[in-house]
Formats: sequence, C-alpha cells, structure tokens
Amino acid sequence: MNILAVESSCDETAVAIVRDGREVLTDCIASQVAEHRIYGGVVPEIASRKHVEAIYGLADEALLKTGLTRDDIDAVAVTYAPGLIGAVLVGVNFAKAAAMALGKPLIPVHHIRGHIAANYLAFPELKPPFLCLVVSGGHTMIVEVEDYTKMRILGTTLDDAAGECFDKVGRVLGMPYPGGAALDKAAQTGSDKAYPMPRPKPGENPYDMSFSGLKTAALNTIHHARQLGEEIDIPGLCASFCAAVSDTLVPRVAMALKETGHKQLAVAGGVAANSVIRRDILAAAENLGVKVYLPPLSLCGDNAAMIGAQAYYEYLAGNTAGMELNAYATKSILGETL
Ligand code: KG4
Ligand code: ZN
Repeated sequence: MNILAVESSCDETAVAIVRDGREVLTDCIASQVAEHRIYGGVVPEIASRKHVEAIYGLADEALLKTGLTRDDIDAVAVTYAPGLIGAVLVGVNFAKAAAMALGKPLIPVHHIRGHIAANYLAFPELKPPFLCLVVSGGHTMIVEVEDYTKMRILGTTLDDAAGECFDKVGRVLGMPYPGGAALDKAAQTGSDKAYPMPRPKPGENPYDMSFSGLKTAALNTIHHARQLGEEIDIPGLCASFCAAVSDTLVPRVAMALKETGHKQLAVAGGVAANSVIRRDILAAAENLGVKVYLPPLSLCGDNAAMIGAQAYYEYLAGNTAGMELNAYATKSILGETL
C-alpha cells in the first residue's frame, strides 16, 4: 500500500511516499528554518504562507522522484494535530483535496504518533509493545505503546517541553534558532559540573516532569553573569543544562522500564538527537538489559515519512476520515481534544 503523507504542523513542509508503513520511497522536505531564524523563533503567519507555497511542488516532486503516477497512490495521510493551527490547516486542506481528487482514503495522523513511528522506518524488526520516550519541541512524555494505535501515557511534562527550553536557552545565548543542536554541540567541550541546575520532582505521579524551573535557572545564570559583567562559561553552561535535562528524563524512563517490564525502548522527537540524552539512555537501558531504538538524526526531526509510517497502521485499525476532517492545535496522543 503506497501512502502519500503530508506534514505541515510547524516549520517544515514535507511530503513522503511510504510503502506498507515501513519502506520510504521518498521523503521530500522544504525547511523554513532560515525564514524564521531572523525572528529567533517560528512566526506562525509566515509558516502558513510558506507551507502554501511549497506543498504542491513537493507533492509533484515526490511522484517524480519515485516514478509513481497518481494511480499508484492508495491513500493520503496528513498530520491533523497538534501544531500551529494555520500551518496544520494547510496540510489538512491539501490532503483532503488530494484524497478527494484521487478517490482514495484520507488518514489523519497525530504528529507525536508519527514521531514514534519514525522508529518503524529505522528499525524493521521493531514491533509493539514497547516503551517510548517522546522528546520534541512541544512534547515530553513517557508512553507505553501497547499496539500500533493503542497507547498509554505514563508521565508527561507539567509545564514546558524539553525542546522549548533548549530553544529558549539557546536563543538567550545568541545561538541560531532552533537552539537545541547548537547547544548540544557547545556542550561537548564543557563540564557538566560548571553550574548548578535543578532536577525538580513535580506532582504526585513519579513519571511526570517539569522543565520550566530548569529553564529559569539557566536564564537567571546567564542574566546574572551579564549584569555583573562576568564571562559565561558557555560550554560549561550548555553541558550543565544538558545533564539536568537528561537527569530529568532518563531515571524516569529507567523506572518505567523496571515497573512495566518492557524489554524494548524507543526514543522519538527532535530532542532525541541530543548526544547527552542518547548516551545516558543507552547506558541506562544496557544496565537493565533493554534493547534501545534510537532513530538516526534525520528521522528525529519533523518529516512526512514518519506520518506515512503511522498512517499505515491507523488505516489497518480503521482510522480514516471524511471531508469533515478538521485540524487541531492541541489534541492528546490518545485522540482526546484538550
Ligand atoms: O520533533 P521536532 O522536530 O519538532 C516538534 O515536533 O516540536 O523537535 C524540534 C526540537 C527543537 O526544540 C530543537 O531545538 C530540538 O528538537 N533539537 C535538539 C537537538 N536537535 C534538535 N535538542 C537538543 N539537542 C539536539 N541535538
Ligand atoms: Zn515534531
């Protein structure tokens, strides 16, 4: 089954063709990062307009690159939530029009389910059940993937997502948007003991996390040093920050692995590219005799192939939509409107 998949929830316009949920025939991406960089973050209105400009050409490019014709497409999939509403709407409307014109099923896909499914593309042997750590720009959660379309959230951030904090701290340090990758690189040469950073334990649920205090602590450290005219040890600050994020995530994942007994762990989302988190997750899982799936960096960030992968399993579960499909800025991974 060839699925034409569309992703436009943030600042990447992407169209992919994925066969049977596992084989990427092509994955075309038009990144808008350069457009948003001068503003230090994504400007929603610019994002929507850029999606409109790019999406038709990308779909043509996907067909051209694979040598497939429109008749070879068996279904159209699209990220319908969550994301910047104007941006998601562009993809949803394009996908609806394509599905109607082709007379093929329309498959709505939750963006975070897509991030998890990136692992199916990277690791053909991976099948549910498994535990998944989701760390993206907008989401941070520990999820039990009981089946391809059946999930349980064990814990989530109660405030900011890890990626948001990376971007904010990176921005204040003068790093180009999005700051996560630059901050990770700077951390390589620093000491993670350079600055004290908090590791909060919020709420009743031991799997829940909090990052806003850590973000504030990092920002205060920077502002304080600037006010006093003191030099900031940037690699040390980045290393201390990465260590605190990792110390918030990894022990909770280890606890979840122990308590649930899962023997497979997948990691998903843009922040899964972080080298400190990758190193610590590998070490923790090895200690517990758990197999870890860490997607390559190209599949950690936003792309349409991951949407095509999840779409196949949503289709098998009967989760298709009609022309009434709407876009949602927020929606839980379990499908509940928030
Ligand atoms: O999953 P994603 O591409 O988009 C969302 O769905 O949000 O994640 C983007 C996030 C950004 O916050 C970016 O700074 C972060 O992933 N990121 C990283 C790294 N590479 C990307 N954060 C930490 N370390 C990295 N190496
Ligand atoms: Zn994403």
